[in-house]
Amino acid sequence: MSHASQFRPVALEHASRLINHGPTVLITSAHEGRRNIMAAAWSMPVEFTPPRIAVVIDKSTFTRELIRQSGSFGLIIPGAAQMDLSYAVGSTSGRDEDKFARHRIAATSGPVLGVPVLEQGCAAWLECRWLPQGQTEDAYDTLFAEVVSAAADTRIFENGHWNFTADNADLHTLHHLGAGKFVVAGNQQQARQV
Ligand SMILES: Cc1cc2nc3c(=O)[nH]c(=O)nc-3n(C[C@H](O)[C@H](O)[C@H](O)COP(=O)(O)O)c2cc1C
Repeated sequence: MSHASQFRPVALEHASRLINHGPTVLITSAHEGRRNIMAAAWSMPVEFTPPRIAVVIDKSTFTRELIRQSGSFGLIIPGAAQMDLSYAVGSTSGRDEDKFARHRIAATSGPVLGVPVLEQGCAAWLECRWLPQGQTEDAYDTLFAEVVSAAADTRIFENGHWNFTADNADLHTLHHLGAGKFVVAGNQQQARQV
């Protein structure tokens, strides 16, 4: 059964909102026929315009190697339905096997950089162009990047805003507590002026 994608482009000035609340993300990368995907809990926005983000990617990862070679990566925001997959791709290295094939992950290519992007069971994706910062990467494993395109499932993110409801529970974001235990975001509240 195939579903029509409900992903639509996100205006770049709203891209930071996609990771503002600290979801667990999936980092995708590809270079010369090799492709990879890993989980990352440590990412954040660092600038609205141009939209820039930072993510901690350990030196030992195959992901780091592919980003260095290709100059880009994808940042995917999985929904609750992808919890098992998110944990799995954060538990083995793509150096040894193609995790896309192993987990039968359906990926397409982002429109600007061609990085692998996932939509099924995911809330959003961002295409990121790496901004090399040798010293920071060596010392802190932190990579900076500019977001050059983004899209989100309109059932949970539209007109620059998230909306977590009972109807889109499968797309609620994951937040890692450690050792494969996650909380799923929900219970959205609106602060009032006091
Ligand atoms: C939920 C979760 C969050 C993770 N967060 C990070 C992270 O922020 N940074 C990091 O370097 N590794 C993180 N990891 C570990 C990597 O995903 C793991 O080392 C992965 O196997 C690397 O894959 P690769 O060698 O194919 O690139 C996380 C793992 C899990 C399960």
